[in-house]
Amino acid sequence: MDTTLLSSCLILLYVSFLLFCFSVPASAGLCNKDDKRALVAIKAAFNNAYHFASWTNGSACCTWYDVDCDDRGRVVGLSLFRDDFPGTIPDAVGDLPFLTSLMFHHLPNLVGPIPPAIGRLSKLRFLDISWTNVSGPVPNFLASLPSLTGLDLSFNNLSGPIPSALAHAPASLNSIDLSRNKLTGPLPPGIFSNTSGAYLRLSHNGLSGEVPPSYGAVEFLQVDLSRNRFTGDASFLFGRGKGTQQIDLSRNVFEFDLGKVEFPEAELIALDLNHNKIYGSIPKQIAEVENLQLFNVSYNRLCGEIPTGGRLDRFDQYCYLHNKCLCSAPLPPCNKGRDGDWSRWG
Ligand SMILES: *[C@@H]1O[C@H](CO)[C@@H](O)[C@H](O)[C@H]1NC(C)=O
Ligand SMILES: *[C@@H]1O[C@H](CO)[C@@H](O)[C@H](O)[C@H]1NC(C)=O
Ligand SMILES: *[C@@H]1O[C@H](CO)[C@@H](O)[C@H](O)[C@H]1NC(C)=O
Ligand SMILES: *[C@@H]1O[C@H](CO)[C@@H](O)[C@H](O)[C@H]1NC(C)=O
Ligand SMILES: *[C@@H]1O[C@H](CO)[C@@H](O)[C@H](O)[C@H]1NC(C)=O
Repeated sequence: MDTTLLSSCLILLYVSFLLFCFSVPASAGLCNKDDKRALVAIKAAFNNAYHFASWTNGSACCTWYDVDCDDRGRVVGLSLFRDDFPGTIPDAVGDLPFLTSLMFHHLPNLVGPIPPAIGRLSKLRFLDISWTNVSGPVPNFLASLPSLTGLDLSFNNLSGPIPSALAHAPASLNSIDLSRNKLTGPLPPGIFSNTSGAYLRLSHNGLSGEVPPSYGAVEFLQVDLSRNRFTGDASFLFGRGKGTQQIDLSRNVFEFDLGKVEFPEAELIALDLNHNKIYGSIPKQIAEVENLQLFNVSYNRLCGEIPTGGRLDRFDQYCYLHNKCLCSAPLPPCNKGRDGDWSRWG
C-alpha cells in the first residue's frame, strides 16, 4: 500500500471519527433511570402500541422516537403525534419532572380528561393537546404551572368554562389556543394582564358575554374570537399604535361604532368582522393600513361611503355585502338623496 493511499485512509478514518462524535448527541448514551421508568409506564398505559416500537428496554431512552433529552439525559420533550392508538393521557407523564414541552397532537382515539398529573410539571413551558378527542374541562391546575408560556388545546372535545384561575396564571403565559372545542361561559378578565405579543384563539366555541375591557391593554399579535356568541363592545381591541396583525371577530354579536375605531397602521394584515351588529361607518384611516390583505365587514349594520385608496381597491363587494347602507365602489354608488348628483350615473 503506498503512502498516499495510507494517509488518505487515515484521514478518512479520522474524519469519520469526528463525524461520529458530532452526529451522536452527548445525551444518546444517557438515560435517567426514573425518566425511563416513567416512559415505560406511558408505553404500557397505551398497551405497548406499535407507535412505541422504538422504546425498547435495551436502548437508552434518549434515542427513543418522540423523546427529547437534555445533555444530562433528562427527558425535556415528549411529542406523540399522528397515530390512532387508543387510550387516555397517562398519569405517568407527571413523572417526567424535567419536561419543558409536552405534545399530544392528531391522536383521534385519545379520549378522557386532561389528568391532574400534568399539574406536577413545574418546568413545563409548552403544553399542546390538540386534534384529539380529549374531553372534560380546561383544568384549573393549568393556571398554576409556573413556567407555562404556551397552551394549545385546540380541536378537542373540551367543555365548560375557561377557568377564571387563568387570570392568575404566571406572567409568562402569552399564547392560548382553545379554538374548536365546546367551551361556554364568559372570557374571564385578566388573562395576559401585562404581556405583549400575545396570541389568543378561541374560535368555534359557545363562549358568550362581553369581552372585559382590560383586554384593551393587551398588545395582541393575533386575536381570534370568531364563531362564538360574544356581545357588546370590542372596539378597545384596536388602536393606532398597537402591533396587532390579525383580528377576527367574525360571527358573534358584537355591537359597536366602527366609525370611532383607529386601526394599527403598520402591522394589521387581516381584519374580519363579518356577521356581527357593528354600526357606524368605515373609517377613512383603513386606507392607510399598509399591509392589509384580508378585510371583511359583510353582514353588519354599517352605513356610508366606502373609503378608497391604499390596499382597499383590492377588496371586492363580498367584503361589504349585507350592511345597512354602505355604498360606492365596489358596491353601487351612494344615493345622495333627492337632490343628489344622479346625473353622473345616468
Ligand atoms: C427492562 O430493564 C429493567 C432494568 O433496566 C428490568 O428490570 C426489566 O425487567 C426489563 N424489562 C424487560 C421487559 O426486559
Ligand atoms: C373524534 O372522534 C371522532 C370519531 O369518534 C372522529 O371522527 C374525529 O375526527 C375525532 N376528532 C379529532 C379531532 O380527532
Ligand atoms: C365529547 O364529549 C361528550 C360529552 O361532553 C361526549 O358525550 C362525547 O361522546 C364526546 N365525543 C367523543 C368523540 O369523544
Ligand atoms: C404591568 O406593567 C406595568 C408597567 O409596565 C407595571 O407597573 C406593573 O407592575 C405590571 N403589573 C404586573 C402585574 O406585572
Ligand atoms: C366575507 O364574509 C362573507 C360572510 O362570511 C363571505 O361570504 C365572503 O366570502 C367573505 N369575503 C372574503 C373576501 O373573504
